[in-house]
Amino acid sequence: MLEIAEKVHDESRQGEAVAPIMGDTRTYSKKFYIESYGCQMNFNDSEIVAAILNNEGFGATRNADEADIVLLNTCSIREKAEQTVRRRLTEFKKTKRSKPGFLVGVLGCMAERLKAKFLEEEKLVDMVVGPDAYRSLPALIEEAETGQKGVNVLLSREETYADISPVRLDSNGVTAFVSIMRGCNNMCAFCVVPFTRGRERSRDPQSVIAEATDLFERGYREVTLLGQNVDSYYFVDETNGETITFAMLLERVAAISPLLRVRFSTSHPKDITDEVLHAMARHENICKYIHLPVQSGSTRILQLMNRTYTREWYMKKVDRIREILPGCGLSTDVITGFCTETEEDHQDTMSMMEYAHYDLAYMFAYSERPGTLAARRYQDDIPEEVKKRRLAEVVALHRRHTLESMQQDVGKTFKVLIEGPSKRTDADLFGRNDQNKVVVFPRGNHRKGDYVMVKIDACTAGTLIGTVVEG
Ligand code: SAH
Ligand code: SF4
Ligand code: F3S
Repeated sequence: MLEIAEKVHDESRQGEAVAPIMGDTRTYSKKFYIESYGCQMNFNDSEIVAAILNNEGFGATRNADEADIVLLNTCSIREKAEQTVRRRLTEFKKTKRSKPGFLVGVLGCMAERLKAKFLEEEKLVDMVVGPDAYRSLPALIEEAETGQKGVNVLLSREETYADISPVRLDSNGVTAFVSIMRGCNNMCAFCVVPFTRGRERSRDPQSVIAEATDLFERGYREVTLLGQNVDSYYFVDETNGETITFAMLLERVAAISPLLRVRFSTSHPKDITDEVLHAMARHENICKYIHLPVQSGSTRILQLMNRTYTREWYMKKVDRIREILPGCGLSTDVITGFCTETEEDHQDTMSMMEYAHYDLAYMFAYSERPGTLAARRYQDDIPEEVKKRRLAEVVALHRRHTLESMQQDVGKTFKVLIEGPSKRTDADLFGRNDQNKVVVFPRGNHRKGDYVMVKIDACTAGTLIGTVVEG
């Protein structure tokens, strides 16, 4: 888990097993168990992997003990994420000894970086498969079954898995992820993603719309369009030469049905356009919530990070969002203790947080990643205890802000999409409002997938509590 996790975050959703496929009653001769780490895109990739394996006659299981194949879909974003996976791998050592033919595979972002290490030093890994090589997984399994190691970590400039319809794993049947692009070209100095996932490429809009439409027809009511940097989505339709931007894609997905909510993540502050903000304003069903990672409030640090915007530029972006989309939810990512960060830089981050008053923030101490620009050019010179102390300060400030943001909602009424029973009691249901806040209310006759208007009576630091005021 993360050092500090205010709330379940992309990268803190570590080690979740996926359930057998909903409504799938077929019997399979071989079973696989897949565990996902890292961001939402990685979780969505596991659903692509499940679809590929399903087609080849493998069934998903939630129980590692009954699996013939265990797959770990890994994350490299911080050192801690990698350590968790290593620990988990050693746990499968025993099973491997006692169960002949049992195979272990490492997928995802650690694959490329550590393939040699996994295969040579850690004999328990049979397959290493990078994020662009999942189509070759069945063949690699076959190879591994003969006792050879199955390896494919090639990155692609084209692969988007556009034709593969992901098998929805661990699904609530209401909300789903749809990847619209892969890779990243941004080269933020701290970040390993461009190395683990390769060049940015956008998926054919028609396949995105087809997938979202199919989800809607199967009862889903919310799709989250995913990309490391959705605002640089760009697709040229070769049949008519038309260029599709992210704003255009967003509007096309929103047009599927007014009952289908659309979310998206992540927006790089340098790329989010007024066109996108206006598209959001035009469509009631595009949720008014933007994840806009700032990383640091200091222009000097932002420059070192290669984020390509300044403090002032970011503030103007926040102003613009508030102007075009009043009441829009805003969240961020923050890194403390990046190379050379002074107390003054840190105070700039604190004051930026005061300025933006985020509803939600994911906060991390800087973790040097081998091969990145920062690892090659700068010294990781901020002592661990300073990074941690600054992180604790940022977290404390943010806690105050989230609580204030929740308290401001008491007395308001929100449209909520119901996702299922509340975690605490079956007598209550939970859903989210437009701004992505969790709302809990008495069940009544309402059902998962319904929209209800909920008046907020009270709140905790993470939940709004209310009652349904109209159907
Ligand atoms: N594509 C997204 C971020 C993906 S990684 C974007 O550009 O915003 C998610 C978050 O992890 C980043 O926003 C950053 O805050 C954090 N992160 C990435 N690399 C890190 C590192 N080396 N150390 C600490 N945090 C890191
Ligand atoms: Fe990493 Fe930057 Fe790309 Fe985000 S935009 S994935 S932080 S390189
Ligand atoms: Fe981790 Fe790879 Fe996502 S490094 S955050 S799983 S893109």
